[in-house]
Amino acid sequence: MTLRPFVCPSILNADLASLASECKKLLAAGADWLHLDVMDGHFVPNLTFGHPVVESLRKSLGAEPFFDVHLMVSNPGQWVEPMAKAGASQFTFHYEAVDGDVAVSELIEKIRKSGMKVGLSVKPGTSVEHILKHANHLDNALIMTVEPGFGGQKFMENMMEKVRTIRSKYPNLTIQVDGGVTPENIEISAQAGANAIVSGTGIIKAADQSVAMTTIRNAVEAAISKC
Ligand code: DX5
Ligand code: ZN
Repeated sequence: MTLRPFVCPSILNADLASLASECKKLLAAGADWLHLDVMDGHFVPNLTFGHPVVESLRKSLGAEPFFDVHLMVSNPGQWVEPMAKAGASQFTFHYEAVDGDVAVSELIEKIRKSGMKVGLSVKPGTSVEHILKHANHLDNALIMTVEPGFGGQKFMENMMEKVRTIRSKYPNLTIQVDGGVTPENIEISAQAGANAIVSGTGIIKAADQSVAMTTIRNAVEAAISKC
């Protein structure tokens, strides 16, 4: 499998009253994945939406778009079946939300059986070792570059050490960064080895979303081609 770039606008920063049309606009402008941030007001101090909204979006957008669902919730396992039924393509959960490595392995297996791709994420304060232990069983390793909970925060460059560590051991694994990533600072993540780029404010608020996404894709593509 060869690595390819995935540009993943986070729709959290969009006009949520017009969610479907905002998503259509992003897809037409070149989004590879729609990054859907699910927050429960418990794992993180913010509240967004759950599988009913994912299901509505699937109905409205059709079978094609890739729904990259990022669960910032406690007890993520309870949402595997509802999210699969709603039409989620990938289910990324947090290591910190699950009780130890056996439970993480079981949840990875449960997600896989449901037909969705599997992602595992760590918050800034959590060691990358927890990703490495499970990396062989993942489709997506998500390194948070802000504390999860809100869009529009400052990118934490010191998280790039985690990205480099995973990339050195897993040349073909999709590594995603999320939080404060913009067309202006994309080089940092691209050079470290990230290939799936979440960007909320950086894309949604850009004067031209298509230009913003092309800038991000080109930076990742150039870095991949040098590997
Ligand atoms: C933060 C979310 C992010 C966020 C990204 O908890 O997981 O996906 O919406 O937004 P920006 O790019 O503005 O940091
Ligand atoms: Zn996210």
